Amino acid sequence: MARSPNPFAPTFGRTPPVIAGRDDILDSVYEALATGTNHPDYTSIFFGVRGAGKTVLLNAVEDIAREQGWLTISEDASRAGLVARIERAALLHLRTLLGPPKRRVRGVQAAGLGLELEDAPPLGESEGLREALTRLGDLLAERGSGLMITIDELLSADRAEIREFGSVMQHVCRREERPVAFAGAALPPFEEYIETEDQSAFLHRCSRHNVGQLGQVATRLAIAGPIAQQGRTIDDDGLDAACAATSGYAFMVQLVGFYSWAAAPADSEHITLRHVEKGIAEANQRVSRVVLVPVWRDLSPVDRRFLRAMAVDDADSGLADIAKRLDVDINYAGVYRQRLVRAGMIVATARGRVDLAHSAARQWIRNMPTEPREQPLVLD
Ligand SMILES: Nc1ncnc2c1ncn2[C@@H]1O[C@H](COP(=O)(O)OP(=O)(O)OP(=O)(O)O)[C@@H](O)[C@H]1O
Ligand SMILES: [Mg+2]
Repeated sequence: MARSPNPFAPTFGRTPPVIAGRDDILDSVYEALATGTNHPDYTSIFFGVRGAGKTVLLNAVEDIAREQGWLTISEDASRAGLVARIERAALLHLRTLLGPPKRRVRGVQAAGLGLELEDAPPLGESEGLREALTRLGDLLAERGSGLMITIDELLSADRAEIREFGSVMQHVCRREERPVAFAGAALPPFEEYIETEDQSAFLHRCSRHNVGQLGQVATRLAIAGPIAQQGRTIDDDGLDAACAATSGYAFMVQLVGFYSWAAAPADSEHITLRHVEKGIAEANQRVSRVVLVPVWRDLSPVDRRFLRAMAVDDADSGLADIAKRLDVDINYAGVYRQRLVRAGMIVATARGRVDLAHSAARQWIRNMPTEPREQPLVLD
């Protein structure tokens, strides 16, 4: 039997075969497009840690828009020239909608020998983003459709560009009510930027969605769904182990799925627990290399001590216990709790309780030798 393509191959942000656990967000965007500019989710921002599934969500939003006959502009703010690129894309859409430039009569020649023709004023190379979106919005409104602009990696954006984009959107979408919708994606610190630095009304009024860990049902679907679609099966105990190893972290779903699929021989229709165990081992190694190592590198000594104090437990930890182990008061521990949630290293499990966000992290942290600068407890 020929090996069918691995359905967990990296999507590089494109839509995976199954988008699990995001129905609420996608439904609300769908409803917003149908309702109009005054729906709160007409302009939304998705917040989540690295690998949470933000780009996948933006692509799904674009798919919804296109299915409704809308045009889309898809941008990534980590490259400079964001506003100019959006403007160019809007002008391209305008040209397509308007068709080839029409010729118009400039005048009748003196001898009455004929008409003198000239091109109608062409769309400028640079109309300005506001003008381009307004014209495009008008044309689309006449047709009963709209434009969806998505911007990924908002945290990396040049702040001046974000301000300019925001003020244009505030005008075009909010004040003039043109059908130009927006969905952005950002790492959690962008929320702090909005709260503390950004003065514009636009970002403040975008609705905010947390792209968190997938629940148990969604995680099972995200793993079992693509396998079934390709005509294979996974044993129940294998599926249980795979789900537990992901902790509902989307990137880990992809890794565990990918390596478990690959571990099963091409001629086998079944993925067994043995294949999954092999898959988990490889996925753990990879997530450590590409997620845990870089995040750990950026953590402060106290952040690291906090994580070590958690890794002592075999499951989630009480904040009070962590504070006791660190010999600090609970408010102080709470500050670090917040920092580590934002860094994507821990998640809240219940009131006053936290757990490591990655199941691979516990053993990884336990194995990590203590560095000298972690020893003294200094406020940082
Ligand atoms: N809802 C989902 N259901 C199933 N798989 C998903 C889902 N969301 C994401 N994935 C998987 O997780 C991988 C990572 O998702 P994605 O690239 O969207 O994360 P991200 O939040 O954009 O990460 P980064 O911050 O690093 O850009 C995807 O390649 C996809 O395979
Ligand atoms: Mg992304």
